[in-house]
Amino acid sequence: MHINFIVAFLCLAAQPCISAASHPGLRNIYEFSNETWVENLAIRANGNILTTIIGKPEVWNVDPIAHIATLVYRFPDAESVTGIAEVSPDVFCVAVGNWSVPRGTGIPGSWSVWTLQLHLGQEKFHVQKATDIPHAVFLNGMTALPTEPYTALIGDSVLGLIYKVHALTGVYSTALDLPELRPNLTAAFVLGVNGIQSDGHHFLYFTNSFQPPFLARIPLAANGSAAGPVHTILARTPFPTNLGGQADDFALDTAGNAWMTGDPSNYLVKVTPDGNATLVAGGSDMSVLAGDTAAHFDRRPGRGGRKTLYVVTNGGIALPPVSGVVGGKVYALDVWE
Ligand SMILES: *[C@@H]1O[C@H](CO)[C@@H](O)[C@H](O)[C@H]1NC(C)=O
Ligand SMILES: *[C@@H]1O[C@H](CO)[C@@H](O)[C@H](O)[C@H]1NC(C)=O
Ligand SMILES: *[C@@H]1O[C@H](CO)[C@@H](O)[C@H](O)[C@H]1NC(C)=O
Ligand SMILES: *[C@@H]1O[C@H](CO)[C@@H](O)[C@H](O)[C@H]1NC(C)=O
Ligand SMILES: *[C@@H]1O[C@H](CO)[C@@H](O)[C@H](O)[C@H]1NC(C)=O
Repeated sequence: MHINFIVAFLCLAAQPCISAASHPGLRNIYEFSNETWVENLAIRANGNILTTIIGKPEVWNVDPIAHIATLVYRFPDAESVTGIAEVSPDVFCVAVGNWSVPRGTGIPGSWSVWTLQLHLGQEKFHVQKATDIPHAVFLNGMTALPTEPYTALIGDSVLGLIYKVHALTGVYSTALDLPELRPNLTAAFVLGVNGIQSDGHHFLYFTNSFQPPFLARIPLAANGSAAGPVHTILARTPFPTNLGGQADDFALDTAGNAWMTGDPSNYLVKVTPDGNATLVAGGSDMSVLAGDTAAHFDRRPGRGGRKTLYVVTNGGIALPPVSGVVGGKVYALDVWE
């Protein structure tokens, strides 16, 4: 993929990249109210964007054409909704529980996985709890396991492992428990594995927020367990960070490039399968993409080779910019396939 607009000044590793901050192709398509941490997103078959919120236990539907957001569901007895993944057509799993910035960690006993069955073209939906996960501390990134229907893989960023959860039966187990998933215990936030994304075939890609690997992949057996060793694509980010935060969640394109967000480092970085990283937008100066938490490609067919990448933000809540916290946003950026 090539970036739609040539970034005027290409950035060299380990140099501040302020020149790329105001990427001309970035479009703000929706802004939530101030102090709304948009944490993750999934794209519906109709092109609408489901977003999850930290600080309110909510899932919202954003229409990127009409620029309208509507509340889909508010979960009971929880502070936040984090990971989201489509596990069957229009059936989404979400992780719900308690994590907050002031506390800086999650609360064991607060976490559960819920299943949200939507219906295209209709208002009605069905929501049910799949299971509690009592030992979980911070359920975070999520992706569907392509080899088992209705099954989600969900990372626990504090325990540093990945659960496998069946969205309908609620049966769950630990699928992956590896040193590369563990958090850096001396970092600003105790967050290890963060984004996890299946390539739709045999590999699971993941990031680690505060220590190597920045980006890695592991081959999976059909049941979601490891079928081989972890392959590090890039151990550390080559770009300046805030508080040492190198990676949040990311989107994979069909060529295997990862488009990585980096709250609180406020950058969008493209990493090729051989580990070449380029700064696409944002940067540690915080003027754009304040608190970018996750990205996802639009799933409609590309137009003339172009595809839209959606990026969500928390408006800088984790590390307030000098210019002040703003509402969490949904950005769109057209990139070439
Ligand atoms: C999680 O937060 C909610 C909302 O504040 C609260 O009602 C619930 O008791 C908390 N759960 C735990 C296990 O602390
Ligand atoms: C863990 O975080 C600390 C504090 O930011 C940092 O100095 C250290 O290099 C990190 N450890 C690794 C292995 O990256
Ligand atoms: C998953 O599959 C692998 C390889 O086929 C096998 O070795 C392993 O025992 C299976 N794990 C479980 C929990 O069934
Ligand atoms: C990395 O990607 C950039 C931008 O596409 C390119 O200019 C550069 O040559 C690549 N570097 C390597 C080592 O492949
Ligand atoms: C948004 O909230 C922050 C506090 O987090 C506050 O400093 C800022 O002034 C608010 N901005 C607006 C436009 O209300």
